Amino acid sequence: MLVNAAEMLNKAREGHYAVGQFNINNLEWTKTILQTAEEMKSPVILGVSEGAAKYMCGFKTVAAMVKAMDESLGITVPVALHLDHGSYEGAKKCIEAGFTSIMFDGSHYPIEENVQKTTELVNEAHANGLSIEAEVGAIGGEEDGVIAAGEVADPAECKKIADLGVDFLAAGIGNIHGKYPVNWKGLDFDALAAIKTATGNMPLVLHGGTGIPADMITRAISLGVSKINVNTECQLAFAAAVRKYVEAGKDLEGKGFDPRKLLAPGCVAIHDTVKEKIELFGSANKA
Ligand code: 13P
Repeated sequence: MLVNAAEMLNKAREGHYAVGQFNINNLEWTKTILQTAEEMKSPVILGVSEGAAKYMCGFKTVAAMVKAMDESLGITVPVALHLDHGSYEGAKKCIEAGFTSIMFDGSHYPIEENVQKTTELVNEAHANGLSIEAEVGAIGGEEDGVIAAGEVADPAECKKIADLGVDFLAAGIGNIHGKYPVNWKGLDFDALAAIKTATGNMPLVLHGGTGIPADMITRAISLGVSKINVNTECQLAFAAAVRKYVEAGKDLEGKGFDPRKLLAPGCVAIHDTVKEKIELFGSANKA
């Protein structure tokens, strides 16, 4: 059931759990994540970066695929199709293409320009029934070629953006995309608590979910995080499983080269990763 993400995240905030955003890269990814969410009776957010959308032939192709798959798989849990780290232009295209949710990442603009562009997109998203996420304080690391140094968001700026009517807010608290370096200091919980106090009931978003230890995830949820984004961890699990299959020579046995067989262990690995995250985030049986 395709829906916008506002209601599922408000419920998560009230119920003290988080909904996972799992990024999709192709048909296998999308199918596996939808089936796992259905199996777990969990709401889910499918994240699509602009780079992944380009790879999948554009936002319209992605929206058509997800809509058709949601119907043909008989998915009953709430599913949001969400633009991840969208540009201003990308956000507008997704509204047109039939996405149900967008993120506008204006964190690299001066705050006044971020405010002006976010306001415009809030109005446009809401007029079309979409939910909208905004970001304050760049998330560190690299995603799809966009490299940002980790920043801790200023609570006053968070309040300024939250007051524009966004539905949920990503605020940097020392989190980064991709693998965490061994000398990573961990999440800044004091900053998270201050952002929570400044933004009140706003569901908060934790990017860079890959590799954050379980106790930090639980603590972040207790401090108001209602959406957690995971991308790299599914990619690593998929790649390792497919490598194992090939290294065992299974693609050379019988019809083991059939892509449906070759990619199957990767899909099992994504399933297991998504299931584990849904359990950790507490969103199982919350659909
Ligand atoms: P990871 O790739 O580190 O899991 O981060 C995902 C993310 O935050 C997508 O926006």
